[in-house]
Amino acid sequence: MNFDRKIKIAPSILSADFADFGREIRAIEAQGADWVHVDVMDGHFVPNLTFGPPAVKAFRKHVETVMDVHLMISPVDASIEAYADAGTDILTAHIEAGPHIHRTLQAIRAAGMKAGVALNPGTPAEAIAHLLEMADLVCVMTVNPGFGGQKFIDMTDKIRRLREMIGDREIHIEIDGGVDPTTAPLVVAAGADVLVAGSAVFRGGSVHNPQVYGENIAAIRKAATGYA
Ligand code: DX5
Ligand code: ZN
Repeated sequence: MNFDRKIKIAPSILSADFADFGREIRAIEAQGADWVHVDVMDGHFVPNLTFGPPAVKAFRKHVETVMDVHLMISPVDASIEAYADAGTDILTAHIEAGPHIHRTLQAIRAAGMKAGVALNPGTPAEAIAHLLEMADLVCVMTVNPGFGGQKFIDMTDKIRRLREMIGDREIHIEIDGGVDPTTAPLVVAAGADVLVAGSAVFRGGSVHNPQVYGENIAAIRKAATGYA
């Protein structure tokens, strides 16, 4: 994976048909997704439960781009090897998920993956001041994690601050929650380069009608960059 700051759209399969992940992943990639965002929830760190390593390993066979796995689980460390074995490219853990995020990020890299750190809306940018050499991605939550389809919480000040803190370092700023053609330009102007979108990509489409996914992805990209 070469680093660049081009705008990337990462559809979240949390909004896909849970009985048809393989075809859903192939459909969004064929329709222009840059990365595939996989939301792992444990019913403990967040009040919702999705899937774990065996399912993620099965998804991998269908992902040709980048598999971006967002862990909303606590604790994290005991699961890191399993997500490496599942073929994860980028593994993101929440800073709020335990007392030892530094160790977690080290372990993610040691397992051969890119390391991401996610910040809940209540967590300030400064919380990662001592993690900048450890992280390949910072995920700014613009909803409280747990569910798709929630209302966007404006975190543009935090994104701007993170962009300054990151400087020339090769660290992506990913935005997760409530991203659509209205909110995408705000977060991109503040310095984001990876846009996760669940409901705004899957809305109105299906594996039988995948061109709607393509139109939705293009609408977000156009709003964010000026071109589709
Ligand atoms: C929220 C998840 C998100 C979610 C985004 O806990 O981490 O990735 O799927 O969904 P939308 O885009 O619908 O807000
Ligand atoms: Zn997510």
